[in-house]
Amino acid sequence: MSLQRRQLYRELISTAVSEGFQLTERALQRLEEYSNPFQALASAIERLKKNRPEAVVIDVEDLQQPLEKPAEPPPPPLQEKPIHIPRLETFSVIDNDYRIEGDIAEFRSYFLSRYHLIKRILSKRRLEFTPVSEVPAIRDGGETLVAVMVLSKKEGAGNIRITCDDPSGHLEVVASKRNQQLYKQALELLTDTVVAMRIKRVGGINILTEIIYPDVDEQQLRKTPQTEEAYLCLISDIHVGSKHFRRDYFESFLDWLNRGRDGVVKRLTHLVIGGDLVEGVGIYPGQEKDLMYRNVEEQLREAGKLLAEIPQNIEVIFIPGNHEPVRKALPQPPLQDRYRRLLDEHRKMIHLSNPAELVFDGRRVTVYHGQGLDDIIQSLPNASYSTLTENAADVVTALLRYRHLAPIYGGGAQLLPSKEDRLVIVEQPHLLQTGHIHVLVNTSYRGVKLVNAAAWQDQTDYQRSLGLEPDVGYAAVLNIASMNVEMMSFAS
Ligand SMILES: [Fe+2]
Repeated sequence: MSLQRRQLYRELISTAVSEGFQLTERALQRLEEYSNPFQALASAIERLKKNRPEAVVIDVEDLQQPLEKPAEPPPPPLQEKPIHIPRLETFSVIDNDYRIEGDIAEFRSYFLSRYHLIKRILSKRRLEFTPVSEVPAIRDGGETLVAVMVLSKKEGAGNIRITCDDPSGHLEVVASKRNQQLYKQALELLTDTVVAMRIKRVGGINILTEIIYPDVDEQQLRKTPQTEEAYLCLISDIHVGSKHFRRDYFESFLDWLNRGRDGVVKRLTHLVIGGDLVEGVGIYPGQEKDLMYRNVEEQLREAGKLLAEIPQNIEVIFIPGNHEPVRKALPQPPLQDRYRRLLDEHRKMIHLSNPAELVFDGRRVTVYHGQGLDDIIQSLPNASYSTLTENAADVVTALLRYRHLAPIYGGGAQLLPSKEDRLVIVEQPHLLQTGHIHVLVNTSYRGVKLVNAAAWQDQTDYQRSLGLEPDVGYAAVLNIASMNVEMMSFAS
């Protein structure tokens, strides 16, 4: 029974007792159906006192008078339509068996693949690029376009010098402060990203005149075929096993899934969990004091019990985050069998890698826990954990602008140098779901929905030290027909 429900029952019983009556279980259940249960109870008591002064028990029959219209509104036409279950295709980007050699050739192959995959995206705009090695031969005053990987930036007096390369060689490009907008763009340019730069040769110097990002194509999204109404629920960062996990909020959410009377919950077919289902162990120094359960098996078992309460008609999809017991380097493989068994004991789920791709009736949802966001927060001049509530959307937008889920190499997010870079956003999604930063995002960028459903864990000491104020107790609900996203709060 949910906390809310228990509280209601307690208060109804207490009201009845104070008037000298007992309430039967059936009467309690019936009272719950009224829009104002207390008013319904008060009327029943008044009537009993008048008509049957000897009565001491209030049963369901005593409430059968037409006190008021039942709280339940007439079913909207939506509920009369058959439930539509979208066709789902799932793709993991890596599996548990993938191994790396760790040699130089592999790193080279990794960066070359990143370069070529993103250059291909840029080329779709019918852009012609000059190899970097041919730039010095361009006449003075001439302009050209290069597709380059940004290696480093250095602020000087009145300019920024950007060192970049392509497979043919290195190039230094200068962004002057005189063009304020371009200067700001150059300042915000993330390293290890691939962009197109228009440059002008002046006295042997390459002056930056334009930056073209790989970005997303709004037109392409308009071609999505129509589909029937169905809803997906997107959540992340539950952190079962942490002392700060808001079990009460999560139980309200489970209660809504089971007993919600709106048209949405009846048509909810899939629940996506974007990582950090459990708190894990040994994730950060001093974590022991924040733990309710000190081993991850216990945490998973506890999480499994909670997820078992999700109605069976809702398919649950789970990707790991940095708190799960899987390899930390991105992309992360799906949860291993020995841990899955603990979770799936009561409830079968679909286990995928982080990131993973889900396609619902032709609508692509990229699910990514979001470890690479930390490095972007630290790189963008105006972003910080203490201002994340205001600029989380800008941080997540950077992933789409650069078409990469963890663009900065060598930062806090460990990246696996696989032969092919699997974190490039090759297929642009209709919706990108992230987690990790524990702050709400519900926005659009060039037609792509960006959702971060925050967390179910109150602020930790570590977050407090960063100045991060988490949003707690939210679930995002996506209507796949309209692609509208509504953020629901269960924090009350
Ligand atoms: Fe988290």
